[in-house]
Amino acid sequence: MEQLIISGRRRLQGSIAVSGAKNAALAVIPAALCAGAPCVIDNLPVIDDVFNYVDILRRLGAGCDFLDRNTLRIDPSSAAPIPADFDSARKIRASYYVLGALLGRFGEAAVTLPGGCNFGSRPIDLHIKGFEALGAEVRIEHGIVYARADRLVGAHVYLNASVGATINVMLAAINAEGVTVIENAAREPHVVDVANFLNFIGADIKGAGTDTIRISGKEPLRGGDYTIIPDMIETGTYMIAGAVTGGDVTVSNIIPKHMESLTSKLKEMDCGIEEGEDAIRVMARGQLSPASIKTQVYPGFPTDLQPQMTALLATINGASSMTETVFDNRFQYIGELERLGAKITLEGRTALIDGGVALTGAEVTATDLRGGIALIIAGLSAYGETRLNNVHYVDRGYEDFEDKLRYLGADITRRETAVFEIPAGIL
Ligand code: UD1
Repeated sequence: MEQLIISGRRRLQGSIAVSGAKNAALAVIPAALCAGAPCVIDNLPVIDDVFNYVDILRRLGAGCDFLDRNTLRIDPSSAAPIPADFDSARKIRASYYVLGALLGRFGEAAVTLPGGCNFGSRPIDLHIKGFEALGAEVRIEHGIVYARADRLVGAHVYLNASVGATINVMLAAINAEGVTVIENAAREPHVVDVANFLNFIGADIKGAGTDTIRISGKEPLRGGDYTIIPDMIETGTYMIAGAVTGGDVTVSNIIPKHMESLTSKLKEMDCGIEEGEDAIRVMARGQLSPASIKTQVYPGFPTDLQPQMTALLATINGASSMTETVFDNRFQYIGELERLGAKITLEGRTALIDGGVALTGAEVTATDLRGGIALIIAGLSAYGETRLNNVHYVDRGYEDFEDKLRYLGADITRRETAVFEIPAGIL
């Protein structure tokens, strides 16, 4: 077992560069299964979820070689549609993209029901609806989703702005005959990144980034070199970490446009923000103001920054609220935040935050990836020492997290803890 130990109340200062986007990487890697020749994917974040995906592709027979820490060469030529019922597929939610990619390329695919963070029911009915609209038969047996089709034919599909379903249907539709139109498509930057990658290797996808995506299928696909976009959630996390410590933090190698919902909220809260071409500086001098925030699909406030922002609001004097509209149960971390002294009342999908109570360090346990990060953010502002368990959640999604925080001046270390601690004096 490992623990992160944070000694709080250090003001963060300085500049760090953001890594490649986790959620784009986890879609572009399986998308490379559809390519007609090897692909080299650059700017991949060094995180457990990427390593799990590489393991899935290797088990499916694809060649995967890291050319350096962040660059992966994928040779899809030897891949086969064998059922992806591996531990690595169970660990990550994005393993569902194997379905769209293999169904399109081979006319059959099978993958274990996805894992990943548990914030309430996370059905895949929209993915299935999309595949069925293209002519596939889909069934779920013993926790495995099977999809097959003699031929896929383009269709109109309505997808309720689901990120996963939009990408999955795009992956299948590039190999469908005729035109597929996805209505109410997700508009997140990682959806656009996957479409850009697929277009780069020869697909014909128009409209990604709007709510209507049009895919002309059966274009011949080649290989190519592609660079993943920067991670907007990692960016937002360091911006919030800067703000919670009253710091002065510049986050670089980013796309500021992706951050508009957060920057406008922080400005509204009287936090100083300076935007550059590929960087944002957060200057949190003086008291910040409380805020009311509601998560929304892009370009609204991202649900993946909801826990981190709630932790920040807990440190600000006054009454704030956070309403979660994307997932039905994404507040599990709040009980842990309360161990640090946060005063939060849950009313349905809204957290009412009575902010400004001085937080004090305690032993806390991450309940999911972003929830774990929220506890670290709270720990950065807390008096004394915060000890975080379940560090593996953090390792799923953030490259060099402790190093980057330490570089900014945080006091954070990782240590092994004995599973059974023998009380002193017994031996
Ligand atoms: C992706 C991201 C996750 C992010 C989320 C929302 C990845 C690997 N994960 O997750 O980090 O929090 O987008 O931005 O990219 N839904 C259905 N049926 C479906 C699919 C989704 O009802 O078939 C519902 C979900 O339960 C949820 C909502 O739609 O309430 C949004 O889910 P979706 O956008 O699909 O998120 P994910 O792709 O799971």
